[in-house]
Amino acid sequence: METLHPPSARPIIAWSDVLIVGHEQIDADHHRIFEIAGRLHAGIHQAHENMLVRQVLAELTDYTLTHFAREEALMKTAAFPGLEEHRFEHELITYRLRNLQRQAGSGRQGLADELEIFLDRWLARHILTSDAHIAAALRGKQPPSPLA
Ligand SMILES: [Fe+2]
Ligand SMILES: [Fe+2]
Repeated sequence: METLHPPSARPIIAWSDVLIVGHEQIDADHHRIFEIAGRLHAGIHQAHENMLVRQVLAELTDYTLTHFAREEALMKTAAFPGLEEHRFEHELITYRLRNLQRQAGSGRQGLADELEIFLDRWLARHILTSDAHIAAALRGKQPPSPLA
């Protein structure tokens, strides 16, 4: 399978403009997900309370699921033909999020490592391939911007 960022590239564990797919709402959601993940990352290293880490992890899960539902609704409205495959990828990512929640009880370094793997190999990769694809398809269905 072709990878968009080769193994030698730095892993994507924080928001960066390379993740912009060109759909305002989807980009705003992704930005927010990485913002929450950044707080989780900091919390894993700084928090004295496991409760805080669990709370931010729950927030990350909730917002990610809200975002997935929003993308799926956008695809459905646009009669996007790849909806089922895309939804399946969302299910796999959700499964990884649940794994992170399980990991939260067993050591901070392990959780930090798992979070980085989740962000780079699962979330960022999905955004750069599948989400970029739906954004392009949705753009094709939108009327041209009056500013264009
Ligand atoms: Fe997606
Ligand atoms: Fe997305």
